[in-house]
Amino acid sequence: MIRSKAHTPMNNYALNTNNDRTQKGSFATAIKQLQPLLTSEKTQLIFVAIAIVVNSTITLVGPSIVGHVIDTYIASKNYHGVAMYTLLLSGLFLFGLFASYAQTRLMGGVSQRVLFRLRNSIFEKLQDLPVAFFQQNKAGDLISRINNDTDKLAQFFSQSIMQFIGNIFIIIGSAIAILLINPRLGLAALVPAILLFILTKLLGPWIKRRNAVNMKSIGGMSAEIQESLDHFKVVVAFNRRDYFRKAFQKANEENYETAIRAGIANNTFTPVYGFASSAAILIVILYGFHLITAGLFTFGLLISFLAYINRLYDPLRQMATLWTTFQVALAAWDRIHAILDLHTDLAIMTEPPQLQPTHPDAVVEFHGIDFSYSPDAPVLTNASFTLEKGKIYALVGPTGGGKTTTASLMARLFDPSEGAIFFNGKDLRTYTPLERAEKIGFILQEPFLFTGTVGDNIRYGNTAYANATNEELTTALNERNLQEVLAKFNEGLDTKIENGGDSMSLGQKQLIAFVRALLREPELLILDEATANIDTVTEQLLETILRKLPKETTRVVIAHRLNTIADADTIFFVNGGNITEAGSMQQAVDMLMHGKRAS
Ligand SMILES: Nc1ncnc2c1ncn2[C@@H]1O[C@H](COP(=O)(O)OP(=O)(O)OP(=O)(O)O)[C@@H](O)[C@H]1O
Ligand SMILES: [Mg+2]
Repeated sequence: MIRSKAHTPMNNYALNTNNDRTQKGSFATAIKQLQPLLTSEKTQLIFVAIAIVVNSTITLVGPSIVGHVIDTYIASKNYHGVAMYTLLLSGLFLFGLFASYAQTRLMGGVSQRVLFRLRNSIFEKLQDLPVAFFQQNKAGDLISRINNDTDKLAQFFSQSIMQFIGNIFIIIGSAIAILLINPRLGLAALVPAILLFILTKLLGPWIKRRNAVNMKSIGGMSAEIQESLDHFKVVVAFNRRDYFRKAFQKANEENYETAIRAGIANNTFTPVYGFASSAAILIVILYGFHLITAGLFTFGLLISFLAYINRLYDPLRQMATLWTTFQVALAAWDRIHAILDLHTDLAIMTEPPQLQPTHPDAVVEFHGIDFSYSPDAPVLTNASFTLEKGKIYALVGPTGGGKTTTASLMARLFDPSEGAIFFNGKDLRTYTPLERAEKIGFILQEPFLFTGTVGDNIRYGNTAYANATNEELTTALNERNLQEVLAKFNEGLDTKIENGGDSMSLGQKQLIAFVRALLREPELLILDEATANIDTVTEQLLETILRKLPKETTRVVIAHRLNTIADADTIFFVNGGNITEAGSMQQAVDMLMHGKRAS
């Protein structure tokens, strides 16, 4: 059958590491995206805001009072007035100190809780995402996002944001104050600030980009470390330490260079800001002196004015550093949000399926399935076949033919790009993950075990036995003839499993995976070469157990070996994008021997 449509590969889940979000509205978007994390902090944030306003107001009224005291009381040598105002100012500054302490404490709590929730939601998101996501992204980079990037964001929250908001408040307040005192002198003093503002606006995206590149390289380095740690045995066995050393060195160098570039970008502003502040003071002194001699300005006002200039440019200088922390936080948030924003395509289908099963009684029906990992290499093309209840099926075919892929589609580890897979007459996508896990048992080609005991691993994900004691579990296993399998482990259910199964042989891992799957009594049991690493005696044991399974259990066995195939009711040959039924054992062997591509 020829189909004109080009092959669409499985969904793209590669995280975008380049910063292509438009700068415009970036801050507003980030705040909007952060909102769900902040809603429960509303009361705290209101108190923080009040504290910031109080603190900034006190900072702002200071110079005015000082100017007033100079012109009114010091000029007339009224010491009582001076003492009164000094007392008032001390009271105000003490109150300001208290407000500042309160805001730091409150915000510290808020930021830690936000960080906590953020890490939780990323982790939850990761649990939801399909297998494709983990194949397309490196674990090291993900870890770096969860640890490093969230931390950058939290730092911004705990320290910078209050200073940031407080400073904005003070800058605007001081600007208004100097404009009120003397509009012309005020405008003149603001010129350097306005130029700074424009410069900051212009350079912001550049700083953010350099920081984003730096974070990406941190992620890359962490991915490099993770890969060499994960495959350390292989690295040693093949004497590839040099290779990894070089790869790591390269990643480290790249990180070094990007860090320097980010550092340069982050510090560009500092001297410029210092210069702008000095320029403003010069302007005020010269122009102010001119105004005083012309009798248009008082000495006290000039002192207040200079104090306000300080109030204006000091926070502006701090803003240079804060602005970069802010850009760093935005870049970090982009990287975090890229994960949070992914929509899993393994969602439960709610709208009515477009396709109807042609064999509603079949346990599994593949209906015109297309699937590929990448666009140029389709694994399945318009594949259709059905599996009937209680029968044993063998999938055979050359290495790389698509057997594991076919089995993965049956368990919905991936979704097909075309067609539909039906399970018991219903689209597989309409089942919840729990239903799927209960009804479909899949023993992977490379089983994975969790750190714990054999018993823990058998209970894992099994709702019925999640809390079963060892005795109850043993009874359950006896009923299913599985106790002999357990005899293969020194301490039975209590045998320890360390390092995610590294302490077990591959055969032992498969035995545990086997028991784990059978105990669920799935309707469909898929074994991906599950017996390839087991000795003949154990293999016979497993075969006996498989034969004793309830007769309504449908079994799909992927095996290269002839004796496993011989037990099958039907043999499917998987290769060249097709799944074809072999008429007989002999035909299957012929197909395998000649690598025949089914047409
Ligand atoms: N995660 C993946 N990303 C990209 N391509 C993949 C991935 N997994 C498998 N493939 C490709 O898909 C094709 C089918 O692979 P699959 O694992 O289904 O073969 P198989 O029949 O199970 O082989 P084997 O007998 O060696 O287990 C192969 O060409 C393989 O290279
Ligand atoms: Mg395989």
